[in-house]
Amino acid sequence: MNPSNKPGINQSRSKIQQLKNQFEQRKQLAKSLEPIKTKIGVYSGKGGVGKTSVTVNLALALSKMGYNPGIFDVDIDCPNITKALSITSKPSVDDLNRMIPPELHGVKVMSMGFFQKNEDEAIIFRGPMIHNAINQLLSGTNWEGIDILLVDLPPGTSDAPLTVMQTLDLDGFVVVTTPQELAKLDAIRSINMIKKLNHNIYGVVENFSGEYFGTGAGKEISKELEIDYLGNIEMRKSYSDPNKIAYHEDMEANNEYNKLASNLIQKLS
Ligand SMILES: Nc1ncnc2c1ncn2[C@@H]1O[C@H](COP(=O)(O)OP(=O)(O)OP(=O)(O)O)[C@@H](O)[C@H]1O
Ligand SMILES: [Mg+2]
Repeated sequence: MNPSNKPGINQSRSKIQQLKNQFEQRKQLAKSLEPIKTKIGVYSGKGGVGKTSVTVNLALALSKMGYNPGIFDVDIDCPNITKALSITSKPSVDDLNRMIPPELHGVKVMSMGFFQKNEDEAIIFRGPMIHNAINQLLSGTNWEGIDILLVDLPPGTSDAPLTVMQTLDLDGFVVVTTPQELAKLDAIRSINMIKKLNHNIYGVVENFSGEYFGTGAGKEISKELEIDYLGNIEMRKSYSDPNKIAYHEDMEANNEYNKLASNLIQKLS
């Protein structure tokens, strides 16, 4: 028997090849992300608390402050940034065959949603598929001209957000909560998960504050877990109008996000 045909040797060779491929993949990914100075995950313990709304309006406020923000919509099951920003164009391709994120109102956007055949369709990705899809999308995109990347993450503490967090080397997180007691518990759980993964938290944002749901969970979380409080966003009709962007339509919304953006910028330096 030829010694090189021994199953043990073949197994080691394929393991070495696998490690080489992973190393190459990481090198390529790091090179592709090089132009971005700060990558921030926008995250919540519960769905529907306003991650997408915060991501979009915050990006617009950062753009007004003179930054060049980008959004990476990696909410695997439900990518909807393109809808929230009313982006109709798809990515174009540069001469190195990398995708160029479409830009609207000074914000460049890359989303899983660009690759959905039909927007009603669910994208079903699990574990390694999530990892590969994110890696491909990140490595295959031309990120030049973006200084702050906001990443709209899937909610919760399940496999999907965990895989995304481990694939993307984020610099820190903005955690979104709503004022209710139950939402506070979910937010605390998710903050503890981020801490367990040794990631940095820039602060917490309370969304949907006001008469209807009350206010205070954001400040309480900040005090109890010793993380910064970035501000609160009132519950407003302008935020729920799917055909308009609150930041552009509503002065009060505009003020809220300008404050939030400058609080966040202070944490980055
Ligand atoms: N402050 C607010 N006032 C009123 N409506 C809001 C506010 N923030 C968000 N909304 C609306 O609430 C709904 C959920 O918000 P959004 O999609 O941003 O949440 P999400 O956390 O991204 O949800 P998902 O987990 O499903 O991705 C949307 O219709 C949005 O327009
Ligand atoms: Mg969302």
